[in-house]
Amino acid sequence: MTIRKIATIGHPVLRVRAREMTREELASTAMQTFIDDLVETMRDANGAGLAATQVHETIRICAIEVKDNPRYPYKPNVPLTILINPEIEFLTTRTFANYEGCLSVPDLRGVVDRVSEIRVKALDRQGNPIDKVVRGLTAGTYQHEVDHLDGKLFLDRVTDTTTLCTWKEFEKRQLAGFAARATEIVREFGS
Ligand code: NI
Repeated sequence: MTIRKIATIGHPVLRVRAREMTREELASTAMQTFIDDLVETMRDANGAGLAATQVHETIRICAIEVKDNPRYPYKPNVPLTILINPEIEFLTTRTFANYEGCLSVPDLRGVVDRVSEIRVKALDRQGNPIDKVVRGLTAGTYQHEVDHLDGKLFLDRVTDTTTLCTWKEFEKRQLAGFAARATEIVREFGS
C-alpha cells in the first residue's frame, strides 16, 4: 500500500466534479489497490474521511472512518465505510452547526450548517448496494466527503467567516464549547 499525497486548497483538482465509476472499473485490481491506498492515506493523516479528489483521482469514491480520532475527539466512532458513486437525499430541513476541518485546508476550521438526517445510496467496494439513513455528526461527515466529489470545500459553506480559526485557536477557545454541543447533537440524533 502507498500513502498518497493530499492536495491542498488552491490545487485545481479539488474543484473538479469527480466522475461516476462503472462496476467493471471498480472490480479491477488497480481500483481495489487505489481504495486500499485511500484508506491508508486517511488513517496516516488521522482523517475522519478522505475523498478520491483529495488524492488527485477524479472518481466518485470516498472513505469514512472514525476510531477515537485525535483530530475530532467528540466524534462518535464510525466503522470503515467506502462509498462508490454516493448520492445524498436530505430527509429533513433541520440543520446543526458543525465545526469542520479538512486535510485539504491545513490549519483552518469553521462552522458549517449540515442537514441532521440524510439517506445515502452508494455501492460498497465489492459493488453491493448501500442504502442507509445517517444522522447527526456522522451525517455531517458524509456531507463533507460527498461535497469533495462535487468539487466543494467546507469553506464554501461557511456563512459566518468570524468562526474561522486555526486549530490552535480552536483548541484554546472553541473545543470545550463545541464538544458540549456535539454531545447534545449525539444525544438528539444518536450519532
Ligand atoms: Ni475534507
